[in-house]
Amino acid sequence: MRKSKRSSLKRKKQESDLMKYERIQKGTFQERPNRFIAHIEIDGKKETVHVKNTGRCAELLTPGAEVYVQKSDSLERKTGWDLISVKKGERMINMDSQIPNRIVKEWMEEGHFVKDISLIRPEYTYRNSRIDLYVEAEERKILVEVKGVTLEEGGVVRFPDAPSERAVKHVEELTEAVKEGYEAYVFFVIQMKDVRYFTPNMDTHRAFGEALRRAARAGVRIVAYDCDVEADRIAIAGNVPVILGEPLLYELARPLISWYRENRRDLPWREQPDAYHVWVSEIMLQQTRVEAVKPYYERFLKALPTVRHLAEAGEDTLLKLWEGLGYYNRVRNMQKAAQQIMVDHNGTFPDTYEQILSLKGIGSYTAGAVSAFAFGLPKPAVDGNVLRVVSRILASEEDIMKQSVRADIERKLEEVIPADAASDFDQGLIELGAIVCLPNGEPKCMECPARSLCRARKLGIEKELPVKKKQKARRVEERTVFIFRDGENAAVRKRPGRGLLAGMYEFPNVEGKLTEADALNYSREIGLSPLHIRSLGEAKHIFSHVEWHMTGYLIRVDELENSCTEDFLFVHPDEVQEKYPVPAAFEQYTAYINIRLGQDKYRAE
Ligand code: ADE
Repeated sequence: MRKSKRSSLKRKKQESDLMKYERIQKGTFQERPNRFIAHIEIDGKKETVHVKNTGRCAELLTPGAEVYVQKSDSLERKTGWDLISVKKGERMINMDSQIPNRIVKEWMEEGHFVKDISLIRPEYTYRNSRIDLYVEAEERKILVEVKGVTLEEGGVVRFPDAPSERAVKHVEELTEAVKEGYEAYVFFVIQMKDVRYFTPNMDTHRAFGEALRRAARAGVRIVAYDCDVEADRIAIAGNVPVILGEPLLYELARPLISWYRENRRDLPWREQPDAYHVWVSEIMLQQTRVEAVKPYYERFLKALPTVRHLAEAGEDTLLKLWEGLGYYNRVRNMQKAAQQIMVDHNGTFPDTYEQILSLKGIGSYTAGAVSAFAFGLPKPAVDGNVLRVVSRILASEEDIMKQSVRADIERKLEEVIPADAASDFDQGLIELGAIVCLPNGEPKCMECPARSLCRARKLGIEKELPVKKKQKARRVEERTVFIFRDGENAAVRKRPGRGLLAGMYEFPNVEGKLTEADALNYSREIGLSPLHIRSLGEAKHIFSHVEWHMTGYLIRVDELENSCTEDFLFVHPDEVQEKYPVPAAFEQYTAYINIRLGQDKYRAE
């Protein structure tokens, strides 16, 4: 029965979606002596017309404006007319404040918006408010608060046009309703056509916009639909973007995308951006500069061309491919994620944001990048570049080191990512940060597609942003590093499986800053017979939470293998270079066994 009802509704759709007014006449607006009435010239006579919309509508009701009025069919009314619509430029705007509720209800009864509706009740009392519509559909209980919107400027529509405590209250009630298991909507009916987007009017009533943002975060859905409007009719037309965060970022989207398409660098990972390639490159790019990543990226994919290869790689192979990039846990996590993909997804990279985010070692940045670059999903990818660009465009003085600030920027971006160009939008922001909106030195504002929008530039504070509060000071560790050599080999040892540089190979080293005499003593203590010692000077390596301040010695010994009591490996330098992953921390000492490691090795080729 339900089915046949629905199909008969469908057949009627075209006609009945449309709300048609009878007895409409054209007039010319003259003045509005108070909120409720206007003086309008109709057929050469000045008439008093009832204004149902008690909002200001100041930008609409200007003397001489072309308006459309409806002759009242009630004889008891003082005014014989109602103001229905007004022409603003080429645009017809319906300003009948009773119509939004009515057309949403009728439109939903026609089968739009919510499927399988069994009940629609208007004027539903929820807590201390009247909510416009209560809807039941299968298991769903839905509250819909409808707001008519008539305020338009440059294609942007905003609400409210005057402060409205009642509107704030409604939104707050819906936020509570969501907690109680209702679905809740604030439904903005844009009483005109061809607008670009809807945004809360922070100028007239900031508290409303803020309530709307809180509500959206709590799960209330905020939607906007525009309408086909003529002098005597109105019908809901289509969905309009809602921007609760930063309209400026919405304005940025198209210029940014065009700029990116013209100015993007050709980079290896942009050639064939499937999920695996994007993932590998993005994790590498979190470690070091674009130029330094290129050789790592090529080699990694040559050695491990698929998720399966990565899942099955041996530890030393993996660490060797990562040697010099640092944060070795990242590549270990990549392997765990690859194993997860093999087990949980049959070896095929998952293609939803949530599934990607659930992989080991993948956070919101990488999940966003893979989602957008590989699958075109409108998810943000906010790295340091993007934090800088967005902070400047918005002139935000928030500390970008805070997780909450990043989350806020992600939310604001997610709202404005064009569904048809998510990858170019996200990559455009990253690219802008990398080649134009530069850190430290001069941002190249004259080359920037956002230069006319950028608030920091307008205020002349672009070089002071972003605000990045200092992290806690790193702990300093003194270490003494030994290059033990005999005629042939050098000593290396494997680090423990957990903690800093887990599983990597290193030159033997001890805590503290040893003198030459101490170093010789130590050598003898571990069973070696030093023949000659040479100081290699000092070196420093900075990890995220600790700094190593190193002192190095090259110690020639008489036969490494025979007498050493330590768990060292004695390996020919060529073999160290070939097979053993040695962290970049030791880079300054590797020349003494004539090998090159990590980034240094790639630079040489
Ligand atoms: N930095 C981080 N991700 C990047 C990318 N995909 N292209 C260029 N630079 C980046």
